[in-house]
Amino acid sequence: MREGHSPSIARRLSPSEATDRWTGARHGLPKAYGPADLTVLGIGVMIGAGIFSLAGRQAASMAGPGVILSFMIAGITSLLVAFCFAELSSALPASGSAYTFTYVIFGEVWAWIVGWALVMELLIATAVVARVWSLYAAQMLTDFGAHFPAPLAGLTGRAEGFDLFTLLILVLLTIVVALGARVGLRALWIIVVAKLMAIGAVIVVGATHFDKRNLAAIPAPEARAQAATDTLHSPLLGLLSGHTSAFGWFGIFAASAAITFAYIGFDVVATAAEEAEDAPRSTPKGIIRSLVITTIIYISVAVVMVGMIPYDRIDVEAPLADAFRGAGEGFMVHIINIGAVLGLTTVVLVLLVGLTRVMFSMARDGLFPHRLARINRSYHSPTRVTLIIGGLAITLAEFVPVLTLEPLVVIGSLFVFVVVAAGVIRMRRTMPDLPRGFRVPLSPGVPLASIAACLWLLVNLQLITWLYFIAWMAFGVLIYLVYGRRNSVLAGISADSLNAGIRGRHRR
Ligand code: ALA
Repeated sequence: MREGHSPSIARRLSPSEATDRWTGARHGLPKAYGPADLTVLGIGVMIGAGIFSLAGRQAASMAGPGVILSFMIAGITSLLVAFCFAELSSALPASGSAYTFTYVIFGEVWAWIVGWALVMELLIATAVVARVWSLYAAQMLTDFGAHFPAPLAGLTGRAEGFDLFTLLILVLLTIVVALGARVGLRALWIIVVAKLMAIGAVIVVGATHFDKRNLAAIPAPEARAQAATDTLHSPLLGLLSGHTSAFGWFGIFAASAAITFAYIGFDVVATAAEEAEDAPRSTPKGIIRSLVITTIIYISVAVVMVGMIPYDRIDVEAPLADAFRGAGEGFMVHIINIGAVLGLTTVVLVLLVGLTRVMFSMARDGLFPHRLARINRSYHSPTRVTLIIGGLAITLAEFVPVLTLEPLVVIGSLFVFVVVAAGVIRMRRTMPDLPRGFRVPLSPGVPLASIAACLWLLVNLQLITWLYFIAWMAFGVLIYLVYGRRNSVLAGISADSLNAGIRGRHRR
């Protein structure tokens, strides 16, 4: 450390630096979202693979009809956390979301750690959902009777290996995001409405085939044969308690942890705060409204799905379509395929937007190369960082068996959720007078309950997920020590100036 410079552990952004510093600057983002746009953004990013593929898989293998409870548990946890995101984003409406909140509340080292976890979460989620999009797009075309010519047939709708449709969707949406928030926004509104209509049809038509005997068939806990030998794939809780099972309460909780994936996205709404009009009020509303709507939809679809078909006959490849086919509603298969293709498109789109905003903020603060934080003059969007993220997502989706990495998305986001909830408690103490457009009710009770619920879901994740996560975070700490610590915009400021709140060096 050079003499006179602040130790990185002490560096913090002030609230005004986090929010006002960039207004009108070369690295500032233009306003693009009204209050309703934020709700659509949230619905656009949340409703996707979680309902079209994950719900059926978890019902068949882990929770049976108890998957409804799993959706409720994950939904309540998300709602508690969403209150915390709502308060912090109303006080600090910046595009870095949890990363920026942490920079202000806990300082640079923790901010980097949270930012690094967010990058992992959003990048893997983008790649996973793009891959599921390809599976559904290929299925949709096949169900419509399309035949792919020979060289293409083996390159589309594949769960692993090079896949043309995955490439197609990621290239297309990267271009849309690079062209600016407004371009994507028009498309987003139209697609979200179409997706909601498809899901509405699933709920209404599915309800006519509801058989309550399917719900009553609660499976007994099943000792998992592989549990004794396959320690890596056992939930941490199972290893700690010496008991693990599919189905029963253990199964329901393990499914809740996996189903957290379905709710991921309300946190992404917070990354749009800097581009939102009247952000202190509109962002909390956008986060909470979109989550409440999504939760109601998810639970309704889950009830319909396990009510239509006995859990042990659910086809894990195409759960919803298969349930409707079995019920003799062949036309619904097309509606579901179209709904899934549209729905997953908006998920990838908004995840890409969220990730660009987080990486852009980290670059703006100097923790990633500063040139990534340029706004393109023609498109008013961070084009450079968007293209890099698109490239990374394509590489990950094409060359890694990314569907197996889904739990890493969950562990990354739950980790971030815990820090954000702790941030609310701390900020109430350290910055009680900072204006907030929204306040978490019953604080610190709600933030503490959020932390407890997230920790509970975290211990229900498999040991292997924890090991991968720890390895990723250790790699991140190394990068910070080598790069971010020295290149941070705050690195040239002495500890005395920091304490006095004086900033000498703001690159624009
Ligand atoms: N919540 C999003 C989905 O389920 C990531 O696809």
